Amino acid sequence: MKRILNIVGARPNFMKIAPIHREMQKSNNDIEPILIHTGQHYDERMSKFFFDDLGMPKPDEFLGVGSGSHAEQTARVMVEFEKVCLKYKPDLVLVVGDVNSTMACSITAKKLWIPVAHVEAGLRSFDREMPEEINRLATDAISDFLFVSEINGEINLKNEGVDPNKMHYVGNVMIDSLINFMEKAEQSTIMTEQNLNGDDFVLITMHRPSNVDDKENFTKIMHAFEAISKDITIIFPIHPRAEKNLEKFGLLQMAKSMHNLKLLPPLGYLDFIQLEKKAKFVITDSGGLQEETTYLGKPCLTVRENTERPITVQIGTNEIIGTDTELLISQSKKILSGDWKKGEIPKYWDGKTAERIVEILDEKL
Ligand code: UD1
Ligand code: UDP
Repeated sequence: MKRILNIVGARPNFMKIAPIHREMQKSNNDIEPILIHTGQHYDERMSKFFFDDLGMPKPDEFLGVGSGSHAEQTARVMVEFEKVCLKYKPDLVLVVGDVNSTMACSITAKKLWIPVAHVEAGLRSFDREMPEEINRLATDAISDFLFVSEINGEINLKNEGVDPNKMHYVGNVMIDSLINFMEKAEQSTIMTEQNLNGDDFVLITMHRPSNVDDKENFTKIMHAFEAISKDITIIFPIHPRAEKNLEKFGLLQMAKSMHNLKLLPPLGYLDFIQLEKKAKFVITDSGGLQEETTYLGKPCLTVRENTERPITVQIGTNEIIGTDTELLISQSKKILSGDWKKGEIPKYWDGKTAERIVEILDEKL
């Protein structure tokens, strides 16, 4: 039996690990999966809700690291995760995505000579001011299995000289969850709770430090939302980082007084994907939302200067807006006029990515 530690820490990790963990639990393979939660995200709405919605088992270990500066958080994960590695003596540590827990656990494992698998390898924004880019580079540099979700990931890894034997194009595991839970999400009552009918609303999420930690940028963005809300209702489930800063910058009152903008707490997975499916379009700075909207064929405006997920722009429904809020407003109007690209679904975004990953690990470990 090969023992694998599956790592979750922050919100976007749960829907990526859930299908992999479930696949590993099936009896037709020789794998014993152990679920480790670092506790990087800890609020009920940023963590427990996802275990419930995704039907995930309780973590075998909860490290409780919480928030802090990058060094503090990374260091706390490493100290606690080292103990877990020594206790379980795993054959592999599997990490997903690009959050601090991803990098911290992969470095800790490798220094104990434990092989590492990275799911979503090779994505690059080429912007090293983005903390996630450092996490991606460091994790990929030391991983033994690099599971790639889009063609650009493969190109980047080749350009970095990575051994092709380590790379496996398996598709997008986040889409496995989306496909898996779309039907169940139909039972969500969020549309009626929010008095929403049809697709007459735009769904917004915003949490990148470059957008919400800077008073001037966040103020500009909120003014753009105010302009857009004159044309269409805005539904804005707000990330705790953004909410704290709205308050700190004195913008919370402005947000609350916009009658066509509804500020909601962070939503559980089923409620959220139901809104994403129904919305006319999405405005975001999230990595995962760029991919989910491409799968759903939903127009997406990304408020960032770059993306590590270029396939969503090249063949999907995403467009990079930068921080030019005038462009954000004009592109919103363009979508509302019905003028937007159709988009295609990238290769292997088909709900079977976890199966491919587990098959490869079962064979090669
Ligand atoms: C993290 C990831 C980011 C990812 C995002 C997904 C890193 C460097 N960043 O960003 O890549 O896109 O998660 O949501 O790993 N907070 C709470 N409750 C929580 C969690 C956080 O109130 O449960 C607040 C705290 O004030 C904390 C702040 O949010 O300081 C930021 O949390 P943190 O995990 O450091 O980064 P995120 O912005 O969430
Ligand atoms: N999501 C959610 N509730 C929310 C906001 C997002 O369930 O209120 C889901 C979303 O559908 C996607 C994931 O969380 O599956 C994206 O996570 P996030 O935007 O926090 O992180 P990123 O992808 O930017 O790293």
